[in-house]
Amino acid sequence: MDTADFVVVANRLPVDRVVDADGGESWRTSPGGLVAALEPVMKTVDGAWVGWAGQADVQLEPFVANDIRLIPIALSAQEVAEYYEGFANDTIWPLYHDVIAPPQYHREWWDAYVTVNRRFAEAAAGAVAEGGTVWVHDYQLQLVPEMVRALRPDVTIGYFHHIPFPAHGLYAQLPWRDQVLRGLLGADVIGFQRAQDANYFLAAVRRRLQYNVKGAMVDVPGETGTRPVLAKAFPISIDTAPYLELIDKPEVRARAAEIRESLGNPQRILLGVDRLDYTKGIRHRIKAYGELLAEGRLSVEDVTLIQVASPSRERVDAYVQLRDEIELSVARINGDTDTMGHSAIRYLHQGFPREEMVALYLAADVMLVTALRDGMNLVAKEYIATRADNRGVLVLSEFTGAADELRQAIRVNPHDIEGLKDAIMTAVEMEPAQQGRRMRSLRRRVLEHDVKAWSSSFLEALAAVRSRRG
Ligand code: G6P
Repeated sequence: MDTADFVVVANRLPVDRVVDADGGESWRTSPGGLVAALEPVMKTVDGAWVGWAGQADVQLEPFVANDIRLIPIALSAQEVAEYYEGFANDTIWPLYHDVIAPPQYHREWWDAYVTVNRRFAEAAAGAVAEGGTVWVHDYQLQLVPEMVRALRPDVTIGYFHHIPFPAHGLYAQLPWRDQVLRGLLGADVIGFQRAQDANYFLAAVRRRLQYNVKGAMVDVPGETGTRPVLAKAFPISIDTAPYLELIDKPEVRARAAEIRESLGNPQRILLGVDRLDYTKGIRHRIKAYGELLAEGRLSVEDVTLIQVASPSRERVDAYVQLRDEIELSVARINGDTDTMGHSAIRYLHQGFPREEMVALYLAADVMLVTALRDGMNLVAKEYIATRADNRGVLVLSEFTGAADELRQAIRVNPHDIEGLKDAIMTAVEMEPAQQGRRMRSLRRRVLEHDVKAWSSSFLEALAAVRSRRG
């Protein structure tokens, strides 16, 4: 295969391979916000995408899908267990999300992480043209920037970190903390979601490696002098166009009305949309809502909560446990409060296509984003994009990256259940005029700072640092 000027490296390809019961193969869009953010960028460049097809022990040749050249990386079942479910999602993920769940430290998992990162780096190094650009994404691949630089010193390397970077007191737990910092510093530009993440990273570099840090620039010592690396916030956003198109479609609007109808036409629909993950604060949200019903501040005749919890990382213990806890509390609340015509919570442990998500957003009067920690949270931005009539209220956790930008949301600390209950009541009772004032300002922000603004600002910074390096 020809080399490409622009190579994206991410744990997942933009499409997952799925095999049905009769052995038939098909492809479906990968989970998570990363793919949705990068796909529009890829369509505008001569690019290739290096990633995993989402199944163990599958060797695939490079192929083209939706005009993007895809380069699949094979992972054995043991690597899926040790690199993906283990080090990425049971060590780094909980550690970087403020140890909401306890991170597990296992040396074999680290070894698998190094091996798999090298495989991704070698594939990227083989795919990129002379003097081209490699853009590495997310916590699964933190060692790839340094590995690509060693193989291909001619290329420009960007890294974007989609999840939070933890405070030093937590980061210092990681037995391989110095290796990970050096891995990231192989990039020319390291992008974070929030200024806080970039600051924590720079503090870790100063304290652990004693490198010279001036503002957002790090001098990384090498054999031939020092190399400048920029570490800074570039808050990610969504591609607003498909949302704006869908909200004008009569069938999507009809579907929103149908959803309302099927819930018994409650006065208010509350909505939560998350991967089923302990970082998302789904339990806290359900607890607060359940108490409001129990105390009679809300009634099932008037309100319904739709909670979409899409299946995620289903073989990792912390996720198995969380699912049990959530499903127990949903069943209890519904059991205690449902009537024949009205249900307290409509719980859906399923993923849905974008059309259905937009219909849900249109049907929802209040959107609840109560994450205990979240890099950005694109669901908050998707909801806002769909509110063309400037109605609707967003309740947003201050522990999300989105909270830095979406100042007109109702801010909550999800650990404070009383505060969360009050915020839900404020949202449910908010007058249309105030909804409009807040939503107009939120929409302005999301429509102006869309995913194209995000990728151009990152890629411009990358070009600038590269030219400084000469
Ligand atoms: C988050 C991460 C992504 C990840 C996605 C889905 O958004 O930042 O890197 O792809 O979750 O998780 P999964 O483990 O299914 O890839």
